[in-house]
Amino acid sequence: MNKTIHREGKGTAKLFDERSLEADYATLSPLLTPGLRVLDVGCGTGAISKDIAAKVGSAGHVTGIDNTEYFIQSGKETYADVKNLELIYTDLFAYQPDEKFDLIVAARVLQWLNNPVEALKKMYSLLKPGGIVSILDYNHEALEWQPQPPPSMLRFYATFLRWRGDAGMNNHIAEDLPGYFEEAGFTGIVSLDADEVYKKGQPNFVNKAGIWAKVAMSKQMVEEGYIDDELRLLAIDEYTEWVENDAERMTMKLKEIRGTKPA
Ligand SMILES: C[S@@+](CC[C@H](N)C(=O)[O-])C[C@H]1O[C@@H](n2cnc3c(N)ncnc32)[C@H](O)[C@@H]1O
Repeated sequence: MNKTIHREGKGTAKLFDERSLEADYATLSPLLTPGLRVLDVGCGTGAISKDIAAKVGSAGHVTGIDNTEYFIQSGKETYADVKNLELIYTDLFAYQPDEKFDLIVAARVLQWLNNPVEALKKMYSLLKPGGIVSILDYNHEALEWQPQPPPSMLRFYATFLRWRGDAGMNNHIAEDLPGYFEEAGFTGIVSLDADEVYKKGQPNFVNKAGIWAKVAMSKQMVEEGYIDDELRLLAIDEYTEWVENDAERMTMKLKEIRGTKPA
C-alpha cells in the first residue's frame, strides 16, 4: 500500500485548486493540441486538468483520475461546467477505461508511489500506439532555500526524507525517471527542466515557501516514531517566522520526462 502525508480535506483541496497549467506544468503546454484524448493521473481537484481541457478544446477530452475521493468530489463541483472534463474517483492500478489515450500526464504523483515503474507500465497499457506519457516530478534532495532555514526545519525536512525513503518512495525520482521509462518500454525519452522558483515579493511567496510548515502540521511522523512532537511544533513556528521575515528564495527542483509508446 502506498502512503501519503497529504490528508484529505479542505485545506489540501484548496492548495490544489490554486494550481494552473501555466504556473505549475508549463512545459506540458506545447504538447496540447486540439482534439487530443488526455488522461490526468492523480489529478487532485482537477485544477490543472481543466486547463488541459481548455487547450484540447471541444474536439478533445480530458479524464482526471484520483484515488482520494474528497478531491474528486470537490473538483466535480468546481468544474461542473467544463464539458470536456470528466473526473473519476479511482486508483490508477484499478482503472480500466473502454478507450485508450493519446496523452497521459501525471504531475507530482509518482513521488508518492513505491512502485513507479509499475505505474508507468500501467500508463503504457492505457496509451494508443504512438501515444505519449509525460511525468512531472521532484528531486526533493536538491531543494534549495536561501538563506538556510532554522535548524529545526532542516532536521524536520531530513526526517521527512528518511520517512519517505523508508516507505519506499524515491526522494530524487526526477533523476531516475528516464531509466524507469526505459524499463517500462517507452522510446524517444526526453527530460526537461521544470524547477519551481519562488522569490520574496511575489504575491504567492509566503504561501508557496510555507509549504513545509503545512507538511509539518501532519502528526503522522510523530505517530510513527520518527520525530518528537516538540521538534515538529518548533519547526512549524520557527519556519513560519523565517518565511515571513528572512526567506529570500525557495527553489523546488523538478523535471518533466516524456516517452512515446512505439507505433
Ligand atoms: C501531490 S498531489 C498532485 C495533484 C496534481 N496532479 C497537482 O500537480 O497539483 C498527488 C495526487 O495523486 C493522487 N494519487 C496518489 N496515488 C494515486 C493512485 N495510485 N491512483 C490515483 N491517484 C493517486 C493523490 O490522491 C493526490 O491527489
